[in-house]
Amino acid sequence: MNDQSTNTEGSLRGKFALVTGSSRGIGRGIALKLAEKGATIAINYLKDEAAAKDTLARVKELGAEGMIVQADVSKPKELTDMLNRVNDDFGALDIFINNALGDLLGFMVPPLQVSLEQWDEAFHVQSRAFLVAVQHLSSYMRNNGRIVAISYWPGSHLGGFLPYFAMGTNKAALEAMCRYFAVALAPKGITVNALCPGITDDSIVNSLPKEATEAMLSWLKQGWNPMGRPGTPADIGAAVASLCNEDAGWITGQTIVADGGASLMCPEVPLDFQRP
Ligand SMILES: NC(=O)c1ccc[n+]([C@@H]2O[C@H](COP(=O)([O-])OP(=O)(O)OC[C@H]3O[C@@H](n4cnc5c(N)ncnc54)[C@H](OP(=O)(O)O)[C@@H]3O)[C@@H](O)[C@H]2O)c1
Repeated sequence: MNDQSTNTEGSLRGKFALVTGSSRGIGRGIALKLAEKGATIAINYLKDEAAAKDTLARVKELGAEGMIVQADVSKPKELTDMLNRVNDDFGALDIFINNALGDLLGFMVPPLQVSLEQWDEAFHVQSRAFLVAVQHLSSYMRNNGRIVAISYWPGSHLGGFLPYFAMGTNKAALEAMCRYFAVALAPKGITVNALCPGITDDSIVNSLPKEATEAMLSWLKQGWNPMGRPGTPADIGAAVASLCNEDAGWITGQTIVADGGASLMCPEVPLDFQRP
């Protein structure tokens, strides 16, 4: 399947991508946007095979090619076997998106109560999975490849949402790892960045209890997101795809926030003082 001949400026045609956790939610939005730009996509899932098949069907509707790969990214052997399989089947790997979520609701526990097992679970599926994947793929990712880790800026930089502790500390680790990997992989022209979505509709947010989902989404619509709406998986897919473009090769080691400006709003003063 290896074919670089059709690659054109601003397009991902001829590029081969793996997006972890792309059966649903933000990962699916990323997979579809990369496919729209012409990349060939490996869709990873954990349990929801039907959703992964649906994502693949949508990739094909966009005129792109793809494959489905089941693997638990928190298990190093499953993760490295998946990377090998994708690289072998595609014949190359150019883009790796570290997106899979893990059982967030299982480790949403405040810092003074979280157990070591719960913290380890977040670690295994988030920062350890990223370490294992990047170390493994670094020997065969093609020159000028693109690696993006999906983070969450309020979780990695703030401290107010206490149950996010295990995830937030691991998101902070992911962002730091991006900076070190960026330097280590720069000689191959490979960029490594963290991309932070804001609260996104059609994602884990919609799997929370109904009242929590509605409270979070309506909060943003009130004006705490200056764009007046939550993000969508397509918004995040577009942000990730722009980092994967060939002409984004000078951006590396950065933590980039794609939240419609939500993180610009100041929690210390009433919203009415901040409206345009
Ligand atoms: N949602 C938000 O508002 C938001 C905001 C900022 C950052 N993020 C980040 O965005 C990423 C995606 O979140 P989401 O909200 O889109 O989640 P989601 O809708 O719940 O989808 C989770 C995806 O991850 C897969 N997955 C879960 N555990 C896995 C594992 N151990 N191995 C492989 N795949 C696994 C799921 O596969 P199955 O379908 O098989 O279960 C699914 O494809 C996460 O890194 C999250 O922290 C989300």
